[in-house]
Parts: sequence; C-alpha cells; structure tokens
Amino acid sequence: MLNKIRHTLFSSVSASLAATSLFTVVLSSVVSLSSVNTALAADAARGEKLAQTCQGCHGAPGLRNPGPVYNIPMIGGQHPDYIVSALQAYKAKTRGHKTMQAQASNLSDQDMTDIAAFYGSIAGRSRPSLVNAAKAATGKEKSVQCASCHGADGNGDQATFPKLAGQYENYLVQALKDYRSGDRQNAIMAGFAGTLTISDIKALSAWYASQEGGLSAPQAEVFK
Ligand code: HEC
Ligand code: HEC
Repeated sequence: MLNKIRHTLFSSVSASLAATSLFTVVLSSVVSLSSVNTALAADAARGEKLAQTCQGCHGAPGLRNPGPVYNIPMIGGQHPDYIVSALQAYKAKTRGHKTMQAQASNLSDQDMTDIAAFYGSIAGRSRPSLVNAAKAATGKEKSVQCASCHGADGNGDQATFPKLAGQYENYLVQALKDYRSGDRQNAIMAGFAGTLTISDIKALSAWYASQEGGLSAPQAEVFK
C-alpha cells in the first residue's frame, strides 16, 4: 500500500517536472508577471524532505488557523510558480501572517522552488465542499469577471494564478478580505477584491469551494 502510494507520487513528480521545464522555457520568453526565478532547476525529491517542516499544518486535512479561524489552505496540487510567489510574498512581508512569514524567512529561492515542485506534483484528492447552493449559484454569476485568470470553475491552468477549485471556503473568504484590507498586497487582486461586497465574497468563495479540483492536503503516509 505504502509502496503503491510512493510509486504513484514519484511517477507524477517526474511527469510534472518534464512539463514544468518545458513550460519554464516558454514562460520566461513571453511573460514576467511575477518575481519567480524561472532559471532554477527544481528538485522535487529534495523538496519532499524540506516539506516535512510544513506537513504538521499542510498535511493535516481540515486543520484550522487559530485566529481568525479558517482552514489552513491546501497546497498539494497547486501551481508550483504560484507556491513560490506566495512564499516570496511572506518572506518580503507583503503578505501578512506571522507564522508563514517566519516559515518563509528561512527558505532560499532554491528551497522554495524544490518545495513547490514537490507540492505541485501531488495529484489532487480534494472533495468539493458542501456549500449553500443558492450562495454558490450567485457566486457562479459573479465569477465571470474572474474566469480569464482563474478558469471558469477555478481550475485555471496559468502557472502564476492560483487554483481555487475545491479550496476551503473559509480560507477563500479570508484571502479576499485580506486583499480588501491590504493585509495581503497584490496589485491585480487588490483591484478585483476592492469592488466586492462581503456577500459577493461569500458567494464567490462558496462557488469555487464547491467545484471539483486538484488541491489536497497530502498526509504524512506519503513521506519517508
Ligand atoms: C503552523 C502551521 C503552518 C506551518 C508549519 C506551515 N504553514 Fe503554510 N500556511 C499556514 C496558514 C495558516 C496559511 C494561510 C495564511 C494566510 O492566511 O495567508 C498558510 C499558507 C501557505 C501558503 C499560501 C497558500 C495559498 O493558497 O496562497 C503556502 C504556499 C504555504 N503556506 C507553504 C508552506 C510551506 C512551504 C511550509 C513549510 C516550509 C509551511 N507553509 C508551513 C500554516 C502553516
Ligand atoms: C487578471 C488576473 C486575475 C483576475 C481577473 C482575478 N484574479 Fe484572483 N488572483 C490573481 C493572482 C495573480 C493571484 C495571486 C496574487 C498573490 O500573489 O497574492 C490571485 C489570487 C486570488 C485568490 C487567493 C488564492 C489563494 O490561494 O490564496 C483568490 C481567492 C482570488 N484570486 C479570487 C479571485 C476572484 C474571486 C476574482 C474575481 C472577482 C479574481 N480572483 C480575479 C489573478 C487574477
């Protein structure tokens, strides 16, 4: 059983690494949307070892941040480039959250690249959350303006835009509030979140959380 999980994990690591390096070549020649250092080669096996520090929180499905209370985001299956830019934002303190700032402050660019390759390679196991159906229907209507970057259902395939599908509803609410308050600084999202009311935020979060997605909180059994 254990061997089977590890085997699956590593085949997907190699497949996605091949895809990542191909994509990196294309990406570096056409866009520079984020500060991600695309020149670093990713070592997902090294990332897996480094990620043991992170697993107490990101490998525990349903674990909550103590205050304000919301579920710790799933990062398994997230786009690696986005994971790197999130870690850089914590390190630069343009994104609030003392614990994550402390975690990221110890990581080099290479560490971030490797950890991101590891988490990004994990096939999703998230189940869509049960949400209020009327709220999700309203959210679906409002999500039209978000689709060009996040995809119609939150499964966007652009590397620097996070996947939202299947993410915890209460975490999405928190993230959108943080863009509005400036606790999380990002020029693109500040513009979008600034136009949303609290009920828009709740509706949009219900919509994305209820979608089938590839995010997961990979549990300790896949680790050595
Ligand atoms: C004590 C629990 C804890 C530990 C340990 C921890 N994290 Fe986090 N992490 C969180 C919480 C809570 C958030 C959400 C913070 C916020 O609201 O910005 C988060 C957010 C993140 C995000 C942003 C996710 C997103 O969707 O934007 C990334 C990436 C991340 N953590 C990676 C890591 C890595 C890599 C490590 C190990 C080096 C780590 N974390 C260790 C609790 C933890
Ligand atoms: C032009 C592209 C673009 C559009 C349109 C857009 N976003 Fe984003 N979104 C981004 C980027 C880039 C980030 C990552 C920003 C950062 O690093 O904090 C992001 C981050 C997010 C996050 C945080 C996810 C996480 O894991 O922490 C949420 C939630 C979100 N967007 C929701 C929305 C919603 C809802 C809309 C529509 C109202 C929207 N976005 C429109 C580009 C976009």
